Amino acid sequence: MSSEPRRVLRWNRLVDHVEPVNLRTDVPHSARVYDYFLGGKDNFPADREAAEQTLAIFPDMRTGARENRAFLHRATRKLVGELGLRQFIDIGTGIPTSPNLHEVAQESAKDAHIVYVDNDPIVLAHARALLTGSTQGRTAYLDADLREPEKILRSTELAETLDLDQPLVLSLIAVLHFIPASDDPYGLVRRYTEILPSGSYVVLTHATGDFAPEAAAKVSATYQARGIALTPRSRSEIEDFLTGLELVDPGVVPVHRWHPEENTGEELADDRVNVYGVLARVP
Ligand SMILES: C[S@@+](CC[C@H](N)C(=O)[O-])C[C@H]1O[C@@H](n2cnc3c(N)ncnc32)[C@H](O)[C@@H]1O
Repeated sequence: MSSEPRRVLRWNRLVDHVEPVNLRTDVPHSARVYDYFLGGKDNFPADREAAEQTLAIFPDMRTGARENRAFLHRATRKLVGELGLRQFIDIGTGIPTSPNLHEVAQESAKDAHIVYVDNDPIVLAHARALLTGSTQGRTAYLDADLREPEKILRSTELAETLDLDQPLVLSLIAVLHFIPASDDPYGLVRRYTEILPSGSYVVLTHATGDFAPEAAAKVSATYQARGIALTPRSRSEIEDFLTGLELVDPGVVPVHRWHPEENTGEELADDRVNVYGVLARVP
């Protein structure tokens, strides 16, 4: 049987969800503030105000956002092209920004399968763009919160799109810093990693105050004052997310130092990026 009827069904379910979406444009959302940093158009005055306040404290915020995206692309190419992975769960997907994870993955392997997960209504509203993949590959979207691992892990989207007995990639790119200590981020990550079969990988990036502690504290306060919990973490706190996994060389490093592809001749200082990235293998 062709997979087309199922796709249509899934899209119908999605449309049912989309109609009552309340974008709450009166308050900033992390997905839209980040979209503004990346030069996107899916943001509103409240998001732009939060972003501009952040840029006033930390003018290099855009550099960090761009380097974070570049890491996502390099890590995905390595995972698919070199390490042979074909399945991804991407939690904290963000507003589609080309090239998206599935586009990078399916460039190397057309049969790559991706489940995108985000809790922001605007990302849900854009899910149609995320559901277009290669004909051999599959892409699904789940409207869920990282803090609901059971909902995500038992979802039809996961079961229908991925083979959970085969190695897969858990992608947590620029999302864990939105999970404060009170929500048990370490317990949550463990809940996801414990179901990953041997040979799976976790790829993550995370904001840090290691290089510019004062600016990081001010940026967090700016977000916090607008209702977004932002918790930068140190290198060792980020490593702690990966306890029991094998860190792939070079371990936890600023994203622009992780397997850089080209030498532009210009040295980018770590305190202009302030985002760590790491890839780890499930033994
Ligand atoms: C900074 S953006 C990162 C987007 C993309 N991963 C990237 O790095 O380009 C963070 C994304 O995480 C999502 N997010 C934040 N907290 C979340 C949560 N508790 N559950 C699911 N998604 C969340 C936001 O809605 C936003 O889309």
